[in-house]
Amino acid sequence: MSDAIAVTDDGAVRIIRINRPEKKNALTVAMYAEMARALRDAAQSDATRCVMFAGAPGVFSAGNDIADFLSAGNTGLNSPVLAFLHALADSPKPMVAAVGGVAIGVGTTMLFHCDHVVAARDAVLSTPFLKLALIPEAASTLLAPMRMGYARAFSMLVMGRRLSAADALEAGLVNTVVDAAEVDTVALQAAREIAALPPKAVAVARSLMRSRLGEVQERIDGEAEHFAELLQSDEARAAFQAFFARKK
Ligand code: COA
Repeated sequence: MSDAIAVTDDGAVRIIRINRPEKKNALTVAMYAEMARALRDAAQSDATRCVMFAGAPGVFSAGNDIADFLSAGNTGLNSPVLAFLHALADSPKPMVAAVGGVAIGVGTTMLFHCDHVVAARDAVLSTPFLKLALIPEAASTLLAPMRMGYARAFSMLVMGRRLSAADALEAGLVNTVVDAAEVDTVALQAAREIAALPPKAVAVARSLMRSRLGEVQERIDGEAEHFAELLQSDEARAAFQAFFARKK
């Protein structure tokens, strides 16, 4: 068990909180495994009707832990990462996210799988994959153009341009923008609202609205193959080392 992921239940809402603020909530392999397990448990549990992702004050997630990218033997989006991405895509339970502060890399791409996203006014969403000589993951190459249109998706996913909370609202990635102090409360209200709906009807409506699930699953795996190859490149490794050398 990793303490960096706190899983609690608020009635029918399962809250998965990313809680590693000293590393800006960067996600390690153990943390992905923990989140995948919490999602799979929620999927099996009749008592859970909605899942909510939250972060620590001022930080949702700085994305994949770059030290993990550098570690020997890392052959790409390894199984806990892929288990988490597939559990997200396949989740039979609606998912809400409370995004405050930075949401980088998978901290942003996971939001494309959520059903309702509440962002703090100070939230900044970014996907700097190309700057690290990598490609976007979590089926974002499919979901971002669908959701935001190609022009906005290219600017964010490929050019690495950041989105403010207001930009993300306009782009259709975020439902509501609130003060930072309110983000968890407003997201929890939405999660409770969803949890109070008739669960079978919610499940059917969601599965119809997500009818491209097979394509999403294939895209997660297809991106992961390219990601694995690019992760070993000299360019990518130099970018990771530059991140850790930046303050020296
Ligand atoms: N992986 C590993 N460690 C990370 C991390 C990541 N993705 N993001 C932040 N950290 C660590 C830093 O190394 C630092 O650790 P240290 O105190 O032991 O030196 C700590 O978290 C605090 O980060 P710091 O950079 O000092 O904070 P900041 O407020 O100046 O900047 C960010 C915050 C999130 C903007 C910056 O850390 C960042 O750009 N992180 C990388 C994001 C990224 O590229 N993610 C990968 C996407 S694919």
